[in-house]
Amino acid sequence: MQTKDKILKILEENSNQYISGEDLALELNISRTAIWKAIKQLKSLGYDIEGVSTKGYNLTKSGDILSKEKIQSMLNQNFDIVYFDEIDSTNSYAKKLGEKAFNQTLIIANEQGKGRGRMGRFFYSPKDLGVYFSLLLKPKIDATKSVMLTTLAAVSIAEVVEEMTDKKVSIKWVNDLLIENKKFCGILTEGSISMENGELNYAVVGMGVNIYKPKKGYPKNIENIATALFENDQKQYDFKNKFIANVVNKFMLYYENIESLSYFNSYKKRSISLSKTVDVIKLNEVKRAKVLDLDENFSLVVQYENGDIEHLSSGEISIKDI
Ligand code: BTN
Repeated sequence: MQTKDKILKILEENSNQYISGEDLALELNISRTAIWKAIKQLKSLGYDIEGVSTKGYNLTKSGDILSKEKIQSMLNQNFDIVYFDEIDSTNSYAKKLGEKAFNQTLIIANEQGKGRGRMGRFFYSPKDLGVYFSLLLKPKIDATKSVMLTTLAAVSIAEVVEEMTDKKVSIKWVNDLLIENKKFCGILTEGSISMENGELNYAVVGMGVNIYKPKKGYPKNIENIATALFENDQKQYDFKNKFIANVVNKFMLYYENIESLSYFNSYKKRSISLSKTVDVIKLNEVKRAKVLDLDENFSLVVQYENGDIEHLSSGEISIKDI
């Protein structure tokens, strides 16, 4: 643990109290200059630390700052964590690591310049306002079952949001998470397939969650469809670190027995697509259909206006009656 993290831990344990530089120096067995430098570093990261010459330092619990060390300390399993203040895309980075990476690598960014969504879309990933992370795993599953990873991520995020906030989450098949019919999270699963056995060499499960709304609102093209867990001025102390750790811990619990599909009901009960009228969008064709069910492969069972029934394993739908 770096000096700044040790100091942060002490200040957090003694919040609303002043701790003198001398006491910190004694406890950590370092010079007061080293303490002063570390405090300066923490302040530049955004921590609200008040310094009063006669009393010492006091941490006001107001910030929500990503910290690799904190996330690591809350994870129940061993992960290689790579953290970026800014990157083009955590999924792109993970794919570059590919098979060479440690099985169980977690790539986290505070901002993405070229966040990627499904169908080649852009995923808006502004600084400080969300969590953007990719899990790189080497699952022993057939590549045709990779939808299980996307749906598992969706359930993990939905359950953690409902445990940590008072929001109710619904899922728009297959990978969009909504609050009051607006999207706050998207998931992009990518990977590479072994030609020998059809299994995944590795998979990258990328999750982007809007935690705070931008002060000036969302860009025009998404302003009517995007939302976040909290308003811009509702900063929650240390929410993002706990959120990532809780999602990864939950994901790994289900992942250990992924083929048992123990999370299927949790997905289905939040699925807003069921019994809705939808437009099924395939390449250049759009067909109206009614959603009948979700099957155990997470395929959407739809019935077209001519009576034909199809199990959709991928693709996109647009829901008509919400
Ligand atoms: C979608 O809504 O179509 C999927 C969005 C997925 C966004 C996440 S953010 C972390 C990871 N890195 C990316 O570039 N994309 C995913």
